[in-house]
Amino acid sequence: MIIKQNFSLRPYNTFGIDAKSRYFATFECIEDLVKIKETLPDEPLLILGGGSNILFVQDFEGLTLKNEIKGIQKIKEDPQHVWLRVGAGENWHEFVCYCLQKQYAGVENLSLIPGTVGAAPMQNIGAYGVEIKEVIHSVEAIHRDTQQQITLNNQDCAFGYRESIFKNKYKYQYIIHHVTFRLSKKPTFRVEYGAIQEILKQKNIQTLSIQAVSEVICEIRKSKLPDPAKIGNGGSFFKNPEISPAHFESIKARFEHVPAYPSPEGLVKVPAGWLIEQAGWKGKKEGKAGVHEKQALVLVNLGNAQGKDILALSQKIQDSVNELFEVKLSPEINIIP
Ligand code: EPU
Repeated sequence: MIIKQNFSLRPYNTFGIDAKSRYFATFECIEDLVKIKETLPDEPLLILGGGSNILFVQDFEGLTLKNEIKGIQKIKEDPQHVWLRVGAGENWHEFVCYCLQKQYAGVENLSLIPGTVGAAPMQNIGAYGVEIKEVIHSVEAIHRDTQQQITLNNQDCAFGYRESIFKNKYKYQYIIHHVTFRLSKKPTFRVEYGAIQEILKQKNIQTLSIQAVSEVICEIRKSKLPDPAKIGNGGSFFKNPEISPAHFESIKARFEHVPAYPSPEGLVKVPAGWLIEQAGWKGKKEGKAGVHEKQALVLVNLGNAQGKDILALSQKIQDSVNELFEVKLSPEINIIP
């Protein structure tokens, strides 16, 4: 167990922000986590997964712990399904590749999402018509202070659009250490999303397979989203706002082609990327912070930006979208003040 001091988190956040943590350590099992906590019991705690959904606005005056609990274990199987218990520190896309190789279906639409398995349920990661809540059986977590261990089933996790109990009632309380997935042996393909259809047609793919779907998803993501290894970013910076049908109609009266997603609660979900683009921000630069030229929902570090530069740009965007559409954008990124 090595605890480092005054440690740069730059390699540990995909925005590539050079924030320092007063202390830093990694843990590969719960026992190590408990030991480290006992060594520094009073330090504020930050748990890092892949660091792909986080923005450091300043140095972190506390203890940052990187979850490196690994392992994929088959715990149950029936003719239709397989249940896999996976360590929270496993890389998400590597886990998707494992499932593809074993022919376990359900996560192929979530290919290439950065981050770790343990961070995925926190914000109910989703893309191209699928959310992780559809394949989560249960989540195991340990309380940061009391070390109480809990297992939440799917319902207990209170999943919503980029939401879960871990971002609300249990915020800063529990550390996820394992996630159990229920995957299908027989795939149900989810290819209704427009961009998926386009590429399937372009490539003349007629027989679907989970590998083919994954390849299409990877292609779409690579064409639109910047690779964090090349340009620092945290994926979508804001959530897509949900507005009332009346509000949507008033926007449509001014912008005939406003896109919309169907939303279950009688609200209309509008792509924040579209709102930001209409407000003139796509491809704009403000010092070392910028708005990606192919997807306006993604803010980027153009090189040596500080967290506060990115935050300032995000606030300007929020103001102009609010002015133009009376829509308040909320960050999807976890901002560490
Ligand atoms: N659009 C624009 N301009 C832009 C970007 C988007 O006009 O610059 C419009 C287009 O009409 C496009 C529509 O918005 O058809 C939707 O864009 P896209 O398919 O890129 O999806 P999104 O709504 O912007 C969401 C997720 C992404 C996920 C994609 C695909 C959120 C906050 N973001 O983005 O998730 O990959 O759908 O399902 O829900 C992430 O969470 O980090 C993330 C990348």
